[in-house]
Amino acid sequence: MVRVGIDRIAFYTSNQFVALKDVAEHNQIDPDKFALGIWQENMAVASVDEDAVTLAANAAETIFADGSIARQVDQLLFATESGVDQSKAGGVYIRRLLGLNQNCRVVELKQACYSATAGLQMALAQIRANPSLRILLIASDIARYGLGTPGEATQGCGAVAMLLTANPSILAIDEVAGLHSDDVMDFWRPNYSDTALVDGKYSTKVYLNTLKACIADYQARGGELEFQHLCYHLPFSRMAEKAHKTFCRESGNRYQVEAFEQNIAAGLIYNRTIGNSYTASLYIALASLLDNQEVEANARIGLFSFGSGCMGELMSATVVAGYRDALYSKAHHQMLSERTQMTYADYEAAFTYGYVVDGSEQVLPKQTTGAYRLAKIDQHQRHYEPTNC
Ligand code: CAA
Repeated sequence: MVRVGIDRIAFYTSNQFVALKDVAEHNQIDPDKFALGIWQENMAVASVDEDAVTLAANAAETIFADGSIARQVDQLLFATESGVDQSKAGGVYIRRLLGLNQNCRVVELKQACYSATAGLQMALAQIRANPSLRILLIASDIARYGLGTPGEATQGCGAVAMLLTANPSILAIDEVAGLHSDDVMDFWRPNYSDTALVDGKYSTKVYLNTLKACIADYQARGGELEFQHLCYHLPFSRMAEKAHKTFCRESGNRYQVEAFEQNIAAGLIYNRTIGNSYTASLYIALASLLDNQEVEANARIGLFSFGSGCMGELMSATVVAGYRDALYSKAHHQMLSERTQMTYADYEAAFTYGYVVDGSEQVLPKQTTGAYRLAKIDQHQRHYEPTNC
């Protein structure tokens, strides 16, 4: 059977961040709560001229920038829970910004942090049936809970773009997967709110129970719990430790909790300094693992995707020989090292920046250093443009 999976993977995050020790100091909290309690160091803060659309376009631009990958795809699937419009798909703007062909299918997908995985599976099923297809999947989000809330330290922003093909250069994804859904209110965002509502402690329980159920379903469908590495959805980095303890228990202790450093830790490096990026978070963890650890060819990676509300999926994947040549590790490291640290006051100003909702014109200051930006909002319409125009 034809192997299908990830041929390219690139991520993008804002060029500015706030240190959580500064947030702790402002909120008069012990900074160890963030450093040791949730394993987070910094939090990416979107510029005022960035949104889920521009983050996504910037992530995908890394794949196409040097001209070696044709700007030609059969589908553009855009996964987000920070959508900018109730009707128009963000991917429609992204296709035009990237200069992709117009004869492709474009749609936006939603189920909290899970929807990129739905996009991945829908794309791969089609590629199995028609191996000539090239599908661009982009997950992009800005996590917002509110200043001074318990969720504040678990905000962040980022996007990941993946080119999905047959005979992929990086990761082949197996067909078997373990699934679980339930109707629960652990985290949600009503249409009228620009911050998420969350029952924090309950949400971590729902996450772990969903992981358990996915492991059981994965095994029931014949999936082998034989992984050299695991990547978990990361609302905050320490969630991986909690998840891995559950994984070890549920797999009958075939996995050692002590092997965490060796098998999982490299996947947390980017999240620790970016924060939660909702739909993109699991796949940024995957990029973090591949960029920052010598993973052996044919190693098997377990991937756990979770979206509150809730939906979970456990997948397995195999690393392709020579995968390192297809990565954008250098670009990722450079992007992170060139970020600017904000003061608490600047972070607060960015967080509370007001966007017009009355149809008047609002021209946005040039802040992002990404290739694409939101230039203005006028007559209730968003105007995106290349940053260098
Ligand atoms: N030194 C060291 N550790 C400390 C400490 C200190 N000074 N102070 C506190 N801690 C530890 C606590 O003991 C706790 O550890 P355990 O988890 O082992 O008990 C940890 O730091 C967190 O402290 P609290 O539980 O007191 O923190 P909190 O009540 O402020 O809530 C949170 C933490 C629930 C993660 C909150 O930040 C939140 O609601 N975040 C948003 C929701 C979320 O991320 N949920 C995760 C699952 S849902 C999901 O995955 C989907 C998604 O992306 C949103």
